[in-house]
Amino acid sequence: MKILSIFGTRPEAIKMAPVVQALAREPAIQSLVCVTGQHREMLDQVLRLFDLTPDFDLGLMSHNQGLNRLAGGALCALDSVLEDVKPDRVLVHGDTTTAMAAALAAFHRRIPVGHVEAGLRTYHLGQPFPEEMNRRVADLCSDLLFAPTPGSRDNLLSEQLEGQVFVTGNTVIDALQSVQRRLDADPDLRAALDAELPQLDPRRPILLVTGHRRENFGEGFRNICEALDQIADRGDVEIVYPVHLNPNVKGPVTAALAGRPNVHLVPPLDYLPFQRLMQRSHIVLTDSGGVQEEAPALGKPVLVMREMTERPEAVHAGTVQLVGTSRAAIVNAVSRLLDDPVAYAAYAGRINPYGDGQACRRIVDCICGRPMQEFSPLQSPPAASAPRRPAGLDALLVRD
Ligand code: UD1
Ligand code: UDP
Repeated sequence: MKILSIFGTRPEAIKMAPVVQALAREPAIQSLVCVTGQHREMLDQVLRLFDLTPDFDLGLMSHNQGLNRLAGGALCALDSVLEDVKPDRVLVHGDTTTAMAAALAAFHRRIPVGHVEAGLRTYHLGQPFPEEMNRRVADLCSDLLFAPTPGSRDNLLSEQLEGQVFVTGNTVIDALQSVQRRLDADPDLRAALDAELPQLDPRRPILLVTGHRRENFGEGFRNICEALDQIADRGDVEIVYPVHLNPNVKGPVTAALAGRPNVHLVPPLDYLPFQRLMQRSHIVLTDSGGVQEEAPALGKPVLVMREMTERPEAVHAGTVQLVGTSRAAIVNAVSRLLDDPVAYAAYAGRINPYGDGQACRRIVDCICGRPMQEFSPLQSPPAASAPRRPAGLDALLVRD
């Protein structure tokens, strides 16, 4: 069976790399990879880290790209690849323009689609924009829906979509565990990665910041920068901010914060150094989806600079707090975690509502038509419910 995995941005690559590695281990599968290149530098470093060589690279990134131009270019370019390859199944990930266009292009050609990280919802089309629409389109087009959590499964079931839903856990935990194992085993590697960062005062806690959401462009980022400026004034914290390459982020953030002695604006970090920095951080301040999933697994309190999240599990578990983008709310939440050890301890538990490192194995089992035990964050060892197998897939591939 020919499986074509399509992705294009940094987070998709991180979360699809272990899926592609698991597919490559299946003798019955011919695994091919197509990258749209929606991101360039931020994508390529992930491909190198996980040793992935795409079979097709569409090179679609342009400076400050518009969504329609990107989506249109992706649809056209992907159509030629689908015509060439004639895959038995396409795999897409998450909620990017690449994921939406790839799912739609495959749907138009009546090629079955598996959606990895299906069912995340805020039920608000502007939060995040345009991702809430992208993931709904991808879910509509898919016959296999790989929901990371029971909550995302419930969203899909309530929408009565046609695809079969399986709870797999999030593949980000598979990726995170493989990278953390490398870091834990190698003190020289950790030291080398630390040496590449700016000099940080070891007595001061590290506040790690990331941000790139389109709905925060303009006023949101102005508020975020003002809040960071005020927090930096305390003088007892090191703020490290790997700044996203999107010019709507990089421009305003650099203009507002460059030159402050304890605010370290650095280019986007490769995945390995970023994970090392997360290990060393005291608090994480972010609007990212993936970082909201990773930091709780490392026991780091996360303040999310958004009004809504499609990842409520860690909020319910108490390690993630939604703070929005008002200056005062960000400053107050950071100050409380810095100044109140009891509040910090309450947020800092190591929890894993998003996965157990077995998501890729479950996804590949499903694709191969094998029975698989679904992910259950509440039960360890895994759930007592019966293993499930997708109905109606190619009988040749069913191997119990
Ligand atoms: C995209 C996704 C978002 C995802 C995010 C992860 C969409 C609509 N948005 O947002 O869901 O969370 O990626 O980071 O799909 N750029 C570079 N080099 C890079 C990457 C980006 O120069 O390696 C610059 C380019 O000028 C590019 C711009 O950033 O035009 C914006 O990139 P784009 O993919 O459109 O949007 P993101 O904001 O990164
Ligand atoms: N990340 C990284 N380097 C950075 C910032 C983030 O490797 O400088 C990783 C992070 O660990 C996570 C992913 O990128 O796995 C999240 O990407 P991003 O925040 O761009 O997108 P989102 O998850 O919001 O779609």
